[in-house]
Amino acid sequence: MNRIPLIAGNWKMNMTLYESKGLVLGIHYAIKYPHDVEVVVAPPFTAISFVSGLVRSSYIEVAAQDISTHDAGAFTGEISGSMIRGAGCRYVIVGHSERRQYFFETDDLINQKMAAARTHKLIPILCVGETLIERERGACFNVVERQLAVALSGLQTRDPLSLVIAYEPVWAIGTGRTATLEQINEMHAFIRSTLAGVIDPVFASQVRVLYGGSVNSKNSAAILSLGDVDGALIGGASLRVAEFVSIIKSATNN
Ligand code: 13P
Repeated sequence: MNRIPLIAGNWKMNMTLYESKGLVLGIHYAIKYPHDVEVVVAPPFTAISFVSGLVRSSYIEVAAQDISTHDAGAFTGEISGSMIRGAGCRYVIVGHSERRQYFFETDDLINQKMAAARTHKLIPILCVGETLIERERGACFNVVERQLAVALSGLQTRDPLSLVIAYEPVWAIGTGRTATLEQINEMHAFIRSTLAGVIDPVFASQVRVLYGGSVNSKNSAAILSLGDVDGALIGGASLRVAEFVSIIKSATNN
């Protein structure tokens, strides 16, 4: 099975409704029917329903940036999987490093969020990645292995399209400092071999593993040409139509 590249824009806490409209319509008009690439945008919760409506008849899929572990009830500020699904999402980002860092999400909590995503038939984009300190002390592989093992524990599915992994080294996010092609290649191969152990080798060879961290239109072609890289999760550069469109195009050329 061919792994179709996935280009996902994580808008983080950006984009009013008005700005969201300009951005998705801009992408849609610039690329009418992308060839052999899947495109996903992850607006803030306030814009999900609006953006889903705008892209309903297009190729663009919508993701949420987070999911509650709870299904419903007195959890002020939380958004459940059924709400996310009902608002038109197919994907949900789980365990982003900003959630781990600023909102103290642990591997166990992320495991529960993975279960919530499954319950509501949302495809999780599970983010893993080491901090600079962890890389410098040579712990990056141990950290990523632990993040994967805990987050995926209890995963029943063997459908490779039901999961996406995003490797996002924390030190490369929003810093303009991309990991080297060698570092990316090495970690993606490691992630795939870890998945072979945690789940099974066939699943591991078919699941998509994205890279994230200062991806832009200048470095995307080189990153996406790496054998074990199946797309990108993009922050800053996904907020500008021309940048995001040219990253999508660089994925179709590979
Ligand atoms: P940047 O592309 O801004 O570095 O952000 C990456 C990211 O965190 C995507 O989830």
